[in-house]
Amino acid sequence: MPTVVITGVSRGLGRAMSVEFAKAGCKVIGCSQSVSELADLHNELGESHRFDVVDVASDTAVAEWSREILSQCAAPDFLINNAAVINANGSLWEIPAEQFDRLTAVNINGTANTIRHFVPAMVDNRSGVIVNFSSGWGKSVSAHVAPYCASKWAIEGLTRALAEELPTGMAAVPLNPGVINTKMLQSCFGSGADLYPSAVEWAKHAVPFILQITAADNGRSLTVPM
Ligand SMILES: NC(=O)c1ccc[n+]([C@@H]2O[C@H](COP(=O)([O-])OP(=O)(O)OC[C@H]3O[C@@H](n4cnc5c(N)ncnc54)[C@H](OP(=O)(O)O)[C@@H]3O)[C@@H](O)[C@H]2O)c1
Repeated sequence: MPTVVITGVSRGLGRAMSVEFAKAGCKVIGCSQSVSELADLHNELGESHRFDVVDVASDTAVAEWSREILSQCAAPDFLINNAAVINANGSLWEIPAEQFDRLTAVNINGTANTIRHFVPAMVDNRSGVIVNFSSGWGKSVSAHVAPYCASKWAIEGLTRALAEELPTGMAAVPLNPGVINTKMLQSCFGSGADLYPSAVEWAKHAVPFILQITAADNGRSLTVPM
């Protein structure tokens, strides 16, 4: 039973992946900040899975979470950094400092925080795959989402550098999920988001794709095929 640690499971891609990983026989350990959505997911998936309220931007909260998880379970087979936020559409000079700082704290620091606290146990086993959610905007750009683009370019660089540090037998990959109709897409595309597949439909392709990532993929920038 592979253990999957995944951030940002209260809605969107993270929730849909949790359901599919559980169906595939994985033990799912997830987090996000929304108490009632986590309780709903726990009810749906059952007692063998675990969901906690954790703000990934807080190194202290992630450290505490990982201590508790690693004292009760084996090191994760998959660490999936999915949690992220997007800025409200606007030119870079219009984005308030607090919004910019929060976005980088969640999207970049949040990813580094889980790596800091879960990856040492994976390295001890010399096994496991780290999947950091990137975007098409991790390699290209659009107007009005500059902070988000910057964070996803950072994820591409951070992950490829991490890949060079891991021992043989492990992998770290940046993963572009494609374009999927979630709350995040609705924020930047408005009603245009309706043209894209749902997270539930996407996860049926994405989860088998993630489960077949191996050490041979270390450092490769991947895209979920749809
Ligand atoms: N949808 C797309 O088309 C698309 C395209 C390219 C890349 N992506 C990437 O795919 C991933 C998932 O996106 P999505 O579309 O599913 O977004 P979403 O619907 O907005 O969901 C984001 C998830 O992240 C959680 N989250 C946000 N801040 C958090 C924090 N500080 N700590 C813990 N959890 C936090 C949210 O839960 P709470 O609010 O409860 O914390 C939510 O569960 C992101 O990395 C995104 O950049 C999405």
